[in-house]
Amino acid sequence: MDYFEWLSYKDLEYRDGILYFANMNTIEIAEKYGTPIYIINEKMIRKRYRELKDMLNSVYKKNRIHFAVKSNTNLAVLKILSSEGSFFDCSSTGEIYTCLKSGIPSDRIIYTGNMFTDNDFEFAVKQDILVNLDSYSQLERLTKIYDKIEKKKNLISFRFNPEFGAGHHPYTITAGKEIKFGILEHQVIKAYSKAKELGFTKFGIHQHIGSGIIKANDYEMPAQKFLNIIEKIAEELGIQFEFVDFGGGLGIPYYPETDPLDLNRYSDIVFKRFKESVENGEIGEPYLFIEPGRYISAESSILLTQVNTIKDNGFKLFAGIDAGFNTLLRPTLYGSYHHIIVCEKRGKQEDLKYDVVGPICESGDVLGKERVLPKLSEGDYLAILDVGAYGFTMSSSYNSRPRAAELLINDGNIYKIRNEETFDDLVKAQIIPKHLKEKKSYRG
Ligand SMILES: Cc1ncc(COP(=O)(O)O)c(C=O)c1O
Repeated sequence: MDYFEWLSYKDLEYRDGILYFANMNTIEIAEKYGTPIYIINEKMIRKRYRELKDMLNSVYKKNRIHFAVKSNTNLAVLKILSSEGSFFDCSSTGEIYTCLKSGIPSDRIIYTGNMFTDNDFEFAVKQDILVNLDSYSQLERLTKIYDKIEKKKNLISFRFNPEFGAGHHPYTITAGKEIKFGILEHQVIKAYSKAKELGFTKFGIHQHIGSGIIKANDYEMPAQKFLNIIEKIAEELGIQFEFVDFGGGLGIPYYPETDPLDLNRYSDIVFKRFKESVENGEIGEPYLFIEPGRYISAESSILLTQVNTIKDNGFKLFAGIDAGFNTLLRPTLYGSYHHIIVCEKRGKQEDLKYDVVGPICESGDVLGKERVLPKLSEGDYLAILDVGAYGFTMSSSYNSRPRAAELLINDGNIYKIRNEETFDDLVKAQIIPKHLKEKKSYRG
């Protein structure tokens, strides 16, 4: 893909030097709504969801996409995906609450938590949410909660850790013997036979090997191992799964020189053998689930930010912007690359190399290192790309900087879907103890 194709793949283009996103003028948006601000392109969410759905439908009709809510919890985004027929994967009770609040029925949610507390279980069981267990030890505790609430035990699932993981950064690799997630091969038979013994009657199985996987081949070993285990459970325990959940992790091209994930290849590697096993009658006819977050939401959003300071310290050129790692954490947390482009190209400007830095009082507050950009001036607007996954959801109010607003754009319309936080929001949950409320004179 050449650079302009890559931009257009993300619904971005320059018209007379001005950056348009989903056919909308980014400078006009920045001037009207202020910066830093997240802008979400509704059409892109639908487009990426449909690409995956079409891919799945072409392989195996009995499928479901569970959108990984952790990547983007905005209610409007959840509503968009609901209207597409999506299901949802939640990693916490707070995410479940958010889904229910947006009108998603409980039977469309799977709860893949880890380090569950009894309160987590109670919340899920009361709401009839399917729990995907992360440890053998959690099984008896969950059973006690079912008994306490007097609910009938039905469907249960375990997260399997295939020991082969992949991901864009060590922190996002979620399989391996030294990784906290899931149960290992030697625990699987014990886990499912115990679940049977405790009265569960229907079963699912899940694995998620990591996040940000752009090479389909990385799925090969884990997918093979997953199928081996599924066949083994079918053979030894006579369990035919209601669903087999292959997790998420599908990456996107953050760099202009990266090609998108090859979905045909992904589908061949991950689902071919699954389909064969079903056709051979070895594992029944389970639902096939996947749980992508990033693939659906990342490219839907850009972050608009304004340059406030150009600093040349004699060694380095810095472009200081109004978004920091409080607004977008991924570059600081994972060293992640987000492409940064100008919202206005003015004729023949020389290219210069900048460190694009935020206003947070930490040296790690760098959103883009050594980026070649047309010569910038204070007041210019920049767009940081592909921020719709793990962007807003990882933001914070560190340095007491209120979180940014979010806009949804679609067909030339702009909808404010989240207000920027206020200073009052920063302090409203805090309580001053009585003895500190008394007026005392300052010492010294
Ligand atoms: C269990 C589980 N499923 C799905 C996902 C979604 O991953 P991605 O956004 O890379 O598709 C994650 C991400 O961490 C996860 O932990």
